[in-house]
Amino acid sequence: MTVTKKTIHGEWSSRFAFILAATGSAVGLGNIWKFPYITGENGGGAFVFVYLLCVALIGVPIMMSETMLGRRTRQDPVDTMRILAEEAGADSRWQYLGWMGVTAGLLILSYYSVIAGWSSAYILKAFTGSFFDADATAVKAIFDGFIESPLQLIFWHSLFMAATMLIVVRGVHDGLEHSVRLLMPGLFILMILLLAYAMSTSGYFQGLRFLIHPDFSKLTADSILTAMGQAFFTLSLGMGSVMVYGSYLSSDVSIVKASYIIAAADTLVALLAGLIIFPIVFTHGLHPDSGPGLIFKTLPIAFGSMTGGWLFGILFFLVLAIAALTSSIALIEPAVAWLVENKGFSREKACTLAGLAAWALGLGTVFSFNVWADFRIFGRTFFELLDYLTANLMLPIGGFCIAVFSGWIMHRQDSEQELNLPTARAYAVWKFLVSYVAPIAVFLVFLNAVGVI
Ligand code: PFF
Repeated sequence: MTVTKKTIHGEWSSRFAFILAATGSAVGLGNIWKFPYITGENGGGAFVFVYLLCVALIGVPIMMSETMLGRRTRQDPVDTMRILAEEAGADSRWQYLGWMGVTAGLLILSYYSVIAGWSSAYILKAFTGSFFDADATAVKAIFDGFIESPLQLIFWHSLFMAATMLIVVRGVHDGLEHSVRLLMPGLFILMILLLAYAMSTSGYFQGLRFLIHPDFSKLTADSILTAMGQAFFTLSLGMGSVMVYGSYLSSDVSIVKASYIIAAADTLVALLAGLIIFPIVFTHGLHPDSGPGLIFKTLPIAFGSMTGGWLFGILFFLVLAIAALTSSIALIEPAVAWLVENKGFSREKACTLAGLAAWALGLGTVFSFNVWADFRIFGRTFFELLDYLTANLMLPIGGFCIAVFSGWIMHRQDSEQELNLPTARAYAVWKFLVSYVAPIAVFLVFLNAVGVI
């Protein structure tokens, strides 16, 4: 029986377009909002060290694998895993991996959109001059007043989700590709400007030291798990998003080179964010462990006092919101691709359904900062629980399975052909990393987190 499949698969117009889009997916709130605050909560340098190790040894090889799996079938994540399992003569339950990815994407999107909404709201605050001459106390008061209001958060969350849906409806070429071309260079320039400001503050060296001086006594089992989770989150790995982007990639592009470029750009942006934020934290006597509000309580101080701060403030939050947008479209894309290709939905219907589901769930995150702030499940607020479940558990589990599948299940000649590495040695290194290093490392971190080792 022949099955006619509906495919939405376009192709990126060039290797550069793919790199831009995948970097757009990788670089987002994870680098600028999350990396600094979890680094602050987990004691600084030692956490950063483990994070970098996870990016290099686990993240990059898995990124190559995930892209390769997607490109081989050119289907949504669920069908990709089903087809590849069939091709390798393996259990059809591998398709559940695709399912988990689709689910994780929507769960992450639900809270991602809320935080991106904060950034959007801050564009307006910067524009109206709220930060002018504001000290640390005033900036904190602005933030606290803002997140206490569910209505304001819902408004900005809805606006951001609507923007995501509008872009995704337009498809690969028109929507995804165009939005990242201007953004990446813009983000980079603004961050260099902010770095120059941070370097002029009295707390610069203290901030630098906090970021790069590893004090291993501060590392707990949970912070190691968080560092690994962050490596997956920041590279958008383990949930089929890279798979979908890989499926839009033409066959003559080197997956390996592209993966290195994407991971390097992503890491650079995260480190830059840390180098900007911690000096401001120490200069103004703030606490590095002040949680998800960290960048919203620090950067406005810089914008309020630096020359040109009004304009830079507007531009920065604008760029951050757009960086979040190029990630949120990657979060929703696996679900949309699956609904269109597997369930036969129109792209419009698929976007509406996926977007509305994530939006509704996002209300839980909104309330966890105000009306439900005292409500705890397993000692965590709703937002913290979702974040833990997705970044620390679902993405690493997804990544583990991707590594195992490409290292052990997929036929050697298939991965060899798809990766098309220049030498047999390079292939052997990749194979070793995905077959042994990455899965064992993920497994050990899990064992450590549950207290077995
Ligand atoms: N990598 C994004 C960030 O660092 O903000 C978050 C993300 C996007 C995670 C897309 C997963 C994903 F599929």
